[in-house]
Amino acid sequence: MASILIKNIKTLYGINSAGVIKKSGVEMSELQSISDAYLQIENGLISNFGQMSDLIQNRMYDTEIDAQNKMVLPSFVDSHTHLVYAGSREIEYIDKIKGLSYEEIARRGGGILNSAKKIQLISEDELFEESRVRIREIMEQGTCAVEIKSGYGLYPDEELKMLRVIKRIKAETPLIIKATYLAAHAVPSEYKGRQSDYVDLVVNETLPQVAAEGLADFADVFCDKGFFTVPETEKILKAAALYGLRPKIHANELDFSGGVQIACKYNALSADHLEYVGDSEIEAFKQSQTMPTILPGAALFLNLPHAPARKMIDAGLPLAVASDYNPGSSPSGNMKLMLSLAMINHRMTAQECLNAGTINTAYAMNVTDITGSIRIGNYANVIITKPIPTIEFFLYSYGNSLIDTVLLKGEIIGS
Ligand code: NIG
Ligand code: FE
Repeated sequence: MASILIKNIKTLYGINSAGVIKKSGVEMSELQSISDAYLQIENGLISNFGQMSDLIQNRMYDTEIDAQNKMVLPSFVDSHTHLVYAGSREIEYIDKIKGLSYEEIARRGGGILNSAKKIQLISEDELFEESRVRIREIMEQGTCAVEIKSGYGLYPDEELKMLRVIKRIKAETPLIIKATYLAAHAVPSEYKGRQSDYVDLVVNETLPQVAAEGLADFADVFCDKGFFTVPETEKILKAAALYGLRPKIHANELDFSGGVQIACKYNALSADHLEYVGDSEIEAFKQSQTMPTILPGAALFLNLPHAPARKMIDAGLPLAVASDYNPGSSPSGNMKLMLSLAMINHRMTAQECLNAGTINTAYAMNVTDITGSIRIGNYANVIITKPIPTIEFFLYSYGNSLIDTVLLKGEIIGS
C-alpha cells in the first residue's frame, strides 16, 4: 500500500500522543497541535508526524501533498445515526409547521411508524442502494467512522433486514462501522395498548435472532415520554446484556425520562439527546463511564430546548456531539455543521466542539484505539482543510464545507 507525506501543514490538530481515550471538562478545551507540521502515512496508518524542521528528507513517497496554509485534523466520528432508512419524510415537516408536536405526529401514524411502513415495502437490496448514497455523502463530508442503528423495522424480519444492510455497508466501505440494534423505537399500531407484549416480542424473538446472526455491536432503547418507560428499558437492557450487547440509549429528549439514570446504571457507552438534563442527571453521569452525547441537528430541526452542554462540561463531564442522521428529526449527517451548531446553540468553543466530534464520539462507539485522534498506529483518517486563517474559522464559517481533501485509511476520497 501507498506511502503518503502531507507536508507544510499550517497546523496539525488533535494530537493524542498520550493515548487518551476521552476528554472531560476543561480537557475539552485542549486541542493539542503542532504548527508547520508534517504527517506521514504508511499502509493506511499514521506512521509519524512532527515539525517540518524535524522531517528527515531522505526518501520518496508514493504521494506528497503540500498543505501550505491548510490545517489537518482528525476526521469526524459520528457515534449516533439512523442512516439506513427508506424514502423520506419531508411532508411531515408541513404538519410540524402547522404546529403539531413530535409526539402528535407520531400518534397520527407519522414519525417513526411512517418510516417503518416504508421499510416493509422495500427490499434489502434497494435499502442497501439507498443507504450507500448517504454513506458516500458523509464520507465526502469528512466522517471516517459511523454508528448506524436499526429501529425502523419494528418486527423481527424487518429489523434483521436493516441490520443485514448495515453489515453489507460495513463490508464494502472504508468507513469504520458499528451496528446498533435499536430494539425499542416505537410501538407498532398492531400492538397499540399492548406495549408490554411488544417488549416481549423484542426480548423473546427479535433480540435472540439479532444475536444469533451476530448483527449488532450495541443495543438501544428510546427511553422517553410517550415511547418506552424505565422498567421496559431495564427489561430490554438486561436481556441485551446476556448477549453481550452494551447499551447506547436515546434519553431525555422529550422529558426528564429517567433514561440517563438507567443508561448509567447499565454502563451504557453513551446516553444521547439530553435536552432534559438537570443536577440529578449530571450526578449520574459523573458516577459512570457513559458518554453524554448531544445531537444539535435534531434539536434544531425539532425546535427542542437546547441540551445544557455548557453546564455539563463546566461540571467536569465529557461531552460528545453526533448527527442523529435520520429522516424524521435530523435529515443531515454533516458533522461539520453539527459542530457549528454546537458552537452556536450550545456555547461550546471550537476546541470543545472538535474534541466532541472526534475523540469523544470515538469513545461513544468504542473505536478510540483506532481513530478519532492523531496518533501513531491509528488509521490515517484525516481532513485537510482549505486555506483558513484559524481553526475557529472552520466552524464559525458554518454551512461552508472548507474541506479540501479527505483521507480514509490512507486513501484520498475527495478533493
Ligand atoms: O433520534 N428520538 C428517537 N429517534 C430518532 C428519530 C426518529 C424519527 O423520527 O424517525 C431520533 O431523533
Ligand atoms: Fe436517534
